[in-house]
Amino acid sequence: MKGVILAGGLGTRLNPLTTITNKHLLPVYDKPMIYYPIQTLVNAGIEDIMIVCGGNNAGDFLRLLGNGSEFGLKHLNYTYQQGQGGIAEAVGLTRHFIGEERVLIMLGDNIIEHNIRKQTKEFQSQDSGAMILLKEVDNPREYGIAELDGDKIVNIVEKPQNPKTNYAVIGIYMYDQKVFDIIKTLEPSGRGELEITDVNNAYIEMGEMKYAFLDGYWADAGESIDSLLETNNFVKKFGANKME
Ligand code: DAU
Repeated sequence: MKGVILAGGLGTRLNPLTTITNKHLLPVYDKPMIYYPIQTLVNAGIEDIMIVCGGNNAGDFLRLLGNGSEFGLKHLNYTYQQGQGGIAEAVGLTRHFIGEERVLIMLGDNIIEHNIRKQTKEFQSQDSGAMILLKEVDNPREYGIAELDGDKIVNIVEKPQNPKTNYAVIGIYMYDQKVFDIIKTLEPSGRGELEITDVNNAYIEMGEMKYAFLDGYWADAGESIDSLLETNNFVKKFGANKME
C-alpha cells in the first residue's frame, strides 16, 4: 500500500502565521508539523510516500525533508497542487504515483498518539472499498461528522450546523483504486472545493465503506490558532506517534 500526505492549501485560518509560510512547516513542539504524519505512515509500515505540496514555500519541503532519510526512507516523492481546489482534488493529483495499488491518505495537519498499523492491516484484508477512522469530539461543527447504524456508516456531513453525532471523521483515509474514478465525478462544494466527504459518501452508497475508532489522542493542528497551541502542549506533555 502506498501513502500520500496532503500539505497543500493556503492555511488562511492561521493567518498571519501562514501569510508567508506554509502551515505544515510551522512548529509543533520540537518539529515542523509535516514530520508527524510522515512518522505515522512510516510507523504503520508504509514506505512509499508522496507529499502533495502547494501554496507558499513548496520548495522548502524539499530542502527540509530531502529524500526522507531522517525517517529511514530511501526516497520521497513530491507533487504540487496549484491553488486550493480541495482535499479530493489533491488526492486526484497522485493517481500516476498510486498506479494499481491501494492508498492511505493522511492530512498534513493531523497528529495522532498511537500506531495505526492494526487498522491498515485490517483494511488490507478487505476485498475492496474504503476505510475511515472516527474519533469522538466536543466541537462536531468543525469536522466531517459520521452517522452510524450499528456497525454500518450511514452518512457523513461536512461541518454540519446541527450535528446528529459527535463522531468526527479524522484525516486518515484508506481507499482502493475506485477513489480516482469517484473523484472524476465530483462537483465543487459551496466553499469551491472537491470534498473528501463526497468521496466517502460515494463509498458509503456503494456499501463499501468500513470504519474503526481511533485510540488515543487525535489533533487537527491546523483547525485554529487554539488547536495549534493545544497540539503543541499535548505533544510536549505526552509525545506523539508511539510505536504501540
Ligand atoms: O481534520 C479532519 C477534517 O479535515 C475532516 O473531519 C473534514 O471532513 C475534512 O474536510 C477536513 O476538514 P478541514 O476543513 O480541516 O480541511 P482543511 O481545509 O484544513 O485541509 C486539511 C488538510 O488538507 C490541510 O493540512 C491541507 C490539505 N489540503 C487542503 C485543501 C483545501 C490540500 O492539500 N489541498 C487543498 O486544496
